[in-house]
Amino acid sequence: MMEQQYLWWQKEVIYQIYPRSFQDSTGDGVGDLKGIISRLDYLQWLGIKAVWLSPIYPSPMADFGYDVSDYCGIHPLFGTMEDFDELLQEIHKRGMKLILDLVPNHSSNEHPWFLESKSSRDNPKRDWYIWKDAAEDGGEPNNWLSVFGGSGWEWDEHTQQYYYHAFLKEQPDLNWRNPEVQEAMMGVMRFWLEKGVDGFRVDVIYHIIKDDKFRDNPPNPDYKPSMSTYEQQLASYSTDQPEVHDIVKMMRNLLNQYDERLLIGEIYLPIHRLVTYYGNELDGAHLPFNFVLINIDWNATKIASVINEYEGALPEGGWPNWVIGNHDQPRITSRVGNEQAKIAAMLLLTLRGTPTMYYGDELGMRDVPIPQDEVQDPQGLNMPDLDLSRDPARTPMQWNDSENAGFTEGKPWLRLAKNYKRVNVAKQKDDEYSMLSYYKRLIELRQQEPALHVGAFEPVFTNSSIISYIRKHEQTQFLVILNLSHKPCKFAPEHHHYKGTVVLATDPEQEGSTLDKTIALAGDEGLIVQLDA
Ligand code: GLC
Repeated sequence: MMEQQYLWWQKEVIYQIYPRSFQDSTGDGVGDLKGIISRLDYLQWLGIKAVWLSPIYPSPMADFGYDVSDYCGIHPLFGTMEDFDELLQEIHKRGMKLILDLVPNHSSNEHPWFLESKSSRDNPKRDWYIWKDAAEDGGEPNNWLSVFGGSGWEWDEHTQQYYYHAFLKEQPDLNWRNPEVQEAMMGVMRFWLEKGVDGFRVDVIYHIIKDDKFRDNPPNPDYKPSMSTYEQQLASYSTDQPEVHDIVKMMRNLLNQYDERLLIGEIYLPIHRLVTYYGNELDGAHLPFNFVLINIDWNATKIASVINEYEGALPEGGWPNWVIGNHDQPRITSRVGNEQAKIAAMLLLTLRGTPTMYYGDELGMRDVPIPQDEVQDPQGLNMPDLDLSRDPARTPMQWNDSENAGFTEGKPWLRLAKNYKRVNVAKQKDDEYSMLSYYKRLIELRQQEPALHVGAFEPVFTNSSIISYIRKHEQTQFLVILNLSHKPCKFAPEHHHYKGTVVLATDPEQEGSTLDKTIALAGDEGLIVQLDA
């Protein structure tokens, strides 16, 4: 039998960098490309083989780069195209890959395409965006809402029509039913692929196509006032339309013309909808981002059941992936606490499928409280009472105990965590019990052991505290046992005796101990046990 070949993105860990907050090299308080270059050795030391950068393109920064005004340039805040070329080269030199963020659903309202489009109703680019007449009563064309609060429609006085924006009014949605838009964005992708970029994380890919009849969205029966206003409705007609898959396929086909490039889609949908983004013939996204661990209560029974649901829903040949944090979500340590964050890391790095990590999670960085008058995130500013600002998870990386944690010599664009003198890379590197050392060892083990990066997955035993499963490749088997509670508990599967040796544990003191029959776990304890052959 032929040994199955796996691709880089199936085997390796992806690491997300939020460029504003990683490393500043100029003293302006904002991270940049040269800063990232200076930290590549750190990522290599950690065992990272693929880096995803949030947007670095020219942008008025209404949504911190997710409002792009030139898809083929570099924002001067981040550096120059020469810096980018150097970054790509330095990444490749280290045997690593670079994934760019592509934001095709909407541009900035300052993009020349939109400036043309709004200049007159008969401008050739008018139909590049979504323009509609007012309803009969003069109001919005339909009831669609903006994710960032308020209506999704903005009135243009000059041409007397509304345009649609799923996010800020500074982020008008492109009309992807227009072949010229498709061609333009394929050109953008080609530009970066030709440079040698290894893949794209496509922003809100499930938003790209809207209902062609622009029907009203229905109300959300589960809406509660603590939720964002957007969640008053189900986005049934404004997202996840059948024709979106033609676009995903078009992107995939383009990537297929190059070797081993990766297509990731950012998709917040229930599992049964999410998996359709692999495409009918696996001709869609390689990795539709799986956010189930982000959206779920931290509870063993629930998590075990979504793991099984996800594994069961994957199409034949579809490669799984897992995410526990990103720049839009509270940090894992703040969600589940310091101790359980170690359990989350073990889960992320031992489940079957590609893990994506968020910068700083390897240090146990926490959400940083940002005083109201320092809030930067438009989602936080637009809905001030709902506590939706994403700033707390976007604070500067904590490198060392010097001023501003070694992030900048200027004034950081967002304040740092007060604990940075204790919680930082330099300190944790030398501490074998630190979160960083723990992450590094998990990544190393995962990389060394095919069972952990490409092996089969088999659920073993679950109760209200424990999740356990086996990862298996040829003769090698690892049993992963996770205690999701703070209290001691017993791992005691009824019909099976597992024998083996603990090779990695949340408390390193456990390592080397042998497992036979029942095992007593401490609260918040996680074990990786290599089973006897
Ligand atoms: C995605 C990004 C988020 C951004 C939004 C609009 O969800 O991850 O940061 O605000 O799209 O582009």
